[in-house]
Amino acid sequence: MAKVYVFDHPLIQHKLTYIRDKHTGTKEFRELVDEVAALMAYEITRDMPLQEVDVETPVEVCRSYRLAGKKLGLVPILRAGLGMVDGILKLIPAAKVGHVGLYRDPKTLQPVEYYVKLPSDVEERDFIVIDPMLATGGSAVEAIQSLKNRGANSIKLMCLIAAPEGIEKMEQAHPDVDIFVAGVDEKLNEKGYIVPGLGDAGDRLFGTK
Ligand code: PRP
Ligand code: URA
Repeated sequence: MAKVYVFDHPLIQHKLTYIRDKHTGTKEFRELVDEVAALMAYEITRDMPLQEVDVETPVEVCRSYRLAGKKLGLVPILRAGLGMVDGILKLIPAAKVGHVGLYRDPKTLQPVEYYVKLPSDVEERDFIVIDPMLATGGSAVEAIQSLKNRGANSIKLMCLIAAPEGIEKMEQAHPDVDIFVAGVDEKLNEKGYIVPGLGDAGDRLFGTK
């Protein structure tokens, strides 16, 4: 069964409050999402494998550690997932970045895929799929299925805010994928928006309406 991790770190919760605030403008919203993504990445990478190496300090040679194995693959779901990529890359600059383009049909709320480009050696990488919002869960479930269809077998999902409906859908469709969020909200409204949420993440990040 998938695990759901809610990050209760005070810095993450403090910044999330400003991200939710409707008075926060595009520039500040973007900066805050970037900062929270970096803080979440610090926690989510806690189990990354290490290998022992020798390093020559100015004093002597000692055993130390380096990240082992294939590089991490980050996969933002377009558009809004893009807002979290740079924050993570600040900590893990060597990560490869794939993209899955999906939009949610406003009437049916069903995800429509329009673009997929992943790094090579999909089978050997650990992936983090990134999207600020897990609402009905349709987009995340579809994006992760798209990765699995191409051979991915180690996937985590990282979101800012999740609705219980989205978590349930993910747990049913992808019980092997752990979910990392900064907040779990109350419900969805009739338009499929997370309540209280933060509004439309893509519009707030990119200044569209
Ligand atoms: C938003 C959000 C998620 C999706 C979540 O994207 O960024 O991808 O909705 O909703 P779901 O869990 O019900 O699928 P949107 O479809 O608005 O596209 P955009 O990022 O291009 O604005
Ligand atoms: N997509 C968003 O951007 N916000 C929501 O609340 C739900 C889906």
